Amino acid sequence: MGDIFDKILKNPGPLGQYAKMAHGYFAFPKLTGEIGPRMFFNGREVLVWSLNNYLGLANHPEVRKADADAAAQYGLAYPMGARMMTGESDLHEQLEQELAAFVDKPAGMLMNYGYQGIMSVVDALLGRHDVVVYDAESHACLVDGVRLHAGKRFVYKHNDMESLEKQLEHARNVTQQTGGGILVITEGVFGMSGAQGNLKGIAALKDKYNFRLLVDDAHGVGTMGPRLGGTGQEQGVQDKIDVYFGTFAKSFASIGAFIAATPEVIQFLKYNTRSQIFAKSLPMPLVVGALKRLELMRTRPELKDNLWKIVHALQTGLRDVGLNIGKTNSPVTPVVLTGSPQEATHVVFDIREKRNIFCSAVVYPVIPKGTIILRLIPTAVHSLDDVQYTIQAFAEVADKLKNGLYNKEDFAAGVVPKF
Ligand SMILES: Cc1ncc(COP(=O)(O)O)c(C=O)c1O
Repeated sequence: MGDIFDKILKNPGPLGQYAKMAHGYFAFPKLTGEIGPRMFFNGREVLVWSLNNYLGLANHPEVRKADADAAAQYGLAYPMGARMMTGESDLHEQLEQELAAFVDKPAGMLMNYGYQGIMSVVDALLGRHDVVVYDAESHACLVDGVRLHAGKRFVYKHNDMESLEKQLEHARNVTQQTGGGILVITEGVFGMSGAQGNLKGIAALKDKYNFRLLVDDAHGVGTMGPRLGGTGQEQGVQDKIDVYFGTFAKSFASIGAFIAATPEVIQFLKYNTRSQIFAKSLPMPLVVGALKRLELMRTRPELKDNLWKIVHALQTGLRDVGLNIGKTNSPVTPVVLTGSPQEATHVVFDIREKRNIFCSAVVYPVIPKGTIILRLIPTAVHSLDDVQYTIQAFAEVADKLKNGLYNKEDFAAGVVPKF
């Protein structure tokens, strides 16, 4: 008989296998100081491009004041208990209504965390006779939600409408037998590539295949659309989204999440989403804080204008110096380079230590071997000087990489891990 802990030593997991070399630098780095474009890493000031603080609300003085006042007034405990039991309040309900209106839907449901919330919503919506069809690059929380489903599931190639149609045909064949329905799941903006989900293309198939559409718009709410109400608003198909998901973890710079849909769907979800029924209500400072953030999104057009000014300057500038930023059509800006994982570590080290720029790097096994993605997240509080400095630095680094210099360079032993 074995011990379930035996495997922990033998197999630390696909990411855990790198923990020894990566911990504290490439994984779990500590950024200190006030949240914004300038923070501290290992005691040095760095220009930060890795936080989803799109609108710069994390450190907005009015937001900080609203958060602090609400914490002083309510503390972190109120209201105690799950919403259904003792955790309901007028302000929770008000926030739900305002969030729903913000994304052009009639009703809303707050959730205490996005990940568990959306997972559970997928679970609640699907019965065993139903079929789920989802994009291959869906976020882990959606995949985990799909894993809870006892019926059939089909995955379609990322943003590929031909592949989606093929899977919808399979789904239709199944539901003709079972009598169930079909749920299609995509993201509004894919957080790694920055590509918008093809919501228009998906919506165009609704009549033919008679499915419901769930959109995880974690990166789209507060960044996309004429009124920041999301990617469906951006593509003119918000009304085709049956279940809309947004999180407070990004543009809202807080914690919590929400679903928006028809009153019937919301009523059903309030009574059937297990991760919310059996978990504590969102604390009041987070609710009051979210109301303030929403108010600013609605009334301060300069937040959106500043964000998109920086997005356009950064993306145009990177393209102009010949860098590949993939298929992004959102603020998420991946710089796609070619090199080994070892070269990637040297690139990141060069950018962080010598150029004082902090951005996230993604390498194998998260993406295919030989590709390095440096992901930049522009925000409303970056400056055009920050953009210029970063473009120049990235152009130089890409040039060094192309010329094989990161294979030769003698980086401080012990600081850059060897793969
Ligand atoms: C696409 C997507 N969906 C869901 C989540 C989970 O949201 P939360 O951080 O609120 O748990 C994230 C990450 O924050 C995300 O990027």
